[in-house]
Amino acid sequence: MNGDFPPDTLRAWGGAAVERLARYLETVESRPVLARTKPGDLVSRLPRRAPEEPEPWEAIERDLDALIEPNLTHWQHPGFLAYFAVNSSVPGIAGEILAAGYNQVGILWRSSPASNELEQGMVRWLAELVGLPDSFDGQLADTASGASLIALAAAREQAFPDVRKTGLAGLPPGVVYCSELAHSSIDKACVVLGLGLAGLRKVPHDDAFRMDVAALERAIAADRAAGRRPIAVVATAGTTAVTSVDPLPEIASLCEREGLWLHVDAAYAGAAASLPEKRPLFAGWERADSVVFNPHKWLFLPLECTALLFRRMERVRRAFSVVPHYLETPEGAAGVREYMDYGVQLGRRFRALKAWIALRTFGAAGVRERLRAHLDLARQLEEVLRSRADVEIVAPVPFSVVVFRFTGTGLSPEEEDALNRGILERVNEDGRFFISHAVVRGRFVLRAAFGSLRTEPRHVTAFVGVLEEAARASRKALG
Ligand SMILES: Cc1ncc(COP(=O)(O)O)c(C=O)c1O
Repeated sequence: MNGDFPPDTLRAWGGAAVERLARYLETVESRPVLARTKPGDLVSRLPRRAPEEPEPWEAIERDLDALIEPNLTHWQHPGFLAYFAVNSSVPGIAGEILAAGYNQVGILWRSSPASNELEQGMVRWLAELVGLPDSFDGQLADTASGASLIALAAAREQAFPDVRKTGLAGLPPGVVYCSELAHSSIDKACVVLGLGLAGLRKVPHDDAFRMDVAALERAIAADRAAGRRPIAVVATAGTTAVTSVDPLPEIASLCEREGLWLHVDAAYAGAAASLPEKRPLFAGWERADSVVFNPHKWLFLPLECTALLFRRMERVRRAFSVVPHYLETPEGAAGVREYMDYGVQLGRRFRALKAWIALRTFGAAGVRERLRAHLDLARQLEEVLRSRADVEIVAPVPFSVVVFRFTGTGLSPEEEDALNRGILERVNEDGRFFISHAVVRGRFVLRAAFGSLRTEPRHVTAFVGVLEEAARASRKALG
């Protein structure tokens, strides 16, 4: 026996799946935003092996209700204020469905001209949207973590032009610099690139959580004096914990003087550069060698879609291009863009399709309007919390994330940490909101990140009520 299910089955199952998702989005607010699952709950209920005989779609539907939906953390819930939001907007879902069905495997231009050329077009749209100059070119990568790895591989290639032949043995130890608040993906990239964590310098930040450029300069000089080879600086525009922006112009000037690669990680905040009033915060990033930001964070696309932009694309090609005979084509020989030459992946998904659909149906003005709505929600919460004597706003709020902690007279710093830990757990158990935490200057702090397309001002008001209740209970538990 051979053959797929007939297209009419797709009509039936696809229709049921879309109907289910529409219902899911209609009812998501009534569900507890954070899954109430205990570790092992789901896996213990799965059969040990796949069924021998085919099962009907109805059995799948039953188990979506019984096994899957109760164990989802609802990222589309209006009370999802943890981490950074990732929206599955309606255009994003439609784009994902089409991309799954067309299933273009973008190994070569000829394996999908549509995917290849739409990606080139979307890179241009996205760069233009956030105000990066025409000279930036790039790709839609999977995640910011994967994208920063690619960028730092290109930086390593620039510092050690023979590294792909020789490996690192015999070369001076290479060093990458970032602030103490940079994302852990930079640590991982250094591990994967053979620089090791010993090859990553975490530079201190100033009072506004921005990389201390004088300390960066001293670290570079000390490494050079010790015979090490500085490779790259990673500046963050929108740090994960507090959304601070490193001093990009000063870091760019230093990188230019020192001949270092500048990579700007704007995973979450980069989308805000589409707003004229926020663009000054990004001044200097146009001097970077590479910039990363995530349409799957704050441009309303489902995972995965990361814009990875380069000032000189050719340098990335030098780091990655390996063309075996079976992938040689006349177009490739004639110089057509082959995305396999610019990263680790050979097969690549048709990510550009959902970006194209979303940017057209929201429109750039619609994107800006929604981003401003998120900024307003953050402002609303910040104002309420600032008016309270028992709350400290821990960091400036340049975007849509408010970082704060409850305080208490007579409490030691450790007791205050316990108070805030208790608040976090109580808020998240309540079911209406999900927030996350960070550690800032050694202290446990709470983060409320606005970015869901479904959050409204009334949710902020309700959130303050839940916070107050949690704070009361947590204080009581401390005694
Ligand atoms: C600054 C920064 N960089 C990178 C990442 C990683 O993003 P991704 O999940 O796309 O790898 C994050 C995630 O929150 C981030 O905040």
